[in-house]
Amino acid sequence: MARGGDVLTSTAAATRAPWSRLRLRQSAHLRDLLSETTFSVAQLIQPVFVVEGLKGSEPIPGLGDNGRYGVDAALDVVARDVDAGVRHFLLFAIPEAKGERSLEFGFLTRAVDAIKARFGDALCLWTDICLCSCTTHGHCAVLDEGGSIDLDATLDALGRAAVAAADGGADGVSPSDMMDGRTAYLRAALDAAGHARVPVMSYSTKFASQFYGPFRAAADSSPHFGNRRHYQIDVRSRRDAIGSSLRCADEGADLLMVKPAMTSADLIAPIAESTGLPVGAYQVSGEYAGLVALGERGFADFDLALAETLHVLRRAGAAYIITYGARRARALGLA
Ligand code: PBG
Repeated sequence: MARGGDVLTSTAAATRAPWSRLRLRQSAHLRDLLSETTFSVAQLIQPVFVVEGLKGSEPIPGLGDNGRYGVDAALDVVARDVDAGVRHFLLFAIPEAKGERSLEFGFLTRAVDAIKARFGDALCLWTDICLCSCTTHGHCAVLDEGGSIDLDATLDALGRAAVAAADGGADGVSPSDMMDGRTAYLRAALDAAGHARVPVMSYSTKFASQFYGPFRAAADSSPHFGNRRHYQIDVRSRRDAIGSSLRCADEGADLLMVKPAMTSADLIAPIAESTGLPVGAYQVSGEYAGLVALGERGFADFDLALAETLHVLRRAGAAYIITYGARRARALGLA
């Protein structure tokens, strides 16, 4: 009598080896013993949005328990996250005043300084370096009169932003703009300003994507005209996608990153193998909002679905994962 006959079809192999697959999936202890991907909250990074002039906090539509915070409220939420075991944060500092060519980054320095002054070495503070929250038009670059990217002016602004973050005490800077040459430019700017020890985590393979929607509302960074396809990567080009990370490695990036996570999971291992650098994955706002929506509509258990995606990214080779759910590590069994 064939055991497990309701699961196994009566192929010759199943008849020869009944239970050969099922035997080791029977209990949680066996599954845990044989799981090949393990990670903990130590490899997760929690994004935080700090908004200049905001009193208290505001929810971000679709992003569950992630909000936009004034500086004081941000300190409270970071304190709770640190208690929950989170050690890495990615800061998005959103200034009140927007500009076109003369951008200044005083708020970035102040926001970083407020967090580092309070928490010191209890956490590692990475800072997103981009211009889209600072420009009147919402693009990630300084534009010339004809509306094209002014690369020199853009690099100058990005370099000043990186130094502003490091001056505030940032533990790392993360350029997300996708301009050519920005990793080398930031490295040189940091070194010249006496910040040689501050690592650069480059958003090195970043696709143009529909999955940044909730973020752009949160960071006040939607382009007012056009889109980002002339500087973010086309999902159809594997060559450009991998090449972009290789270039960042050549330019001196310390850590690489792919994004959105689910549309670039297949690129993590090839990039890590060719560069020898740690490659992380950013589970972006739209991906996270999708999980939140599944949970809210009763189509999935949110925490189990979130854990599932994080395990897959780890299996794909992600050295670290940026996710809006880092603070849920305990609920996911990762803290
Ligand atoms: C800024 C930036 C974006 C994200 C991170 N940094 C948005 C964009 O490129 O439009 C997306 C993060 C997310 O969706 O969670 N350039």
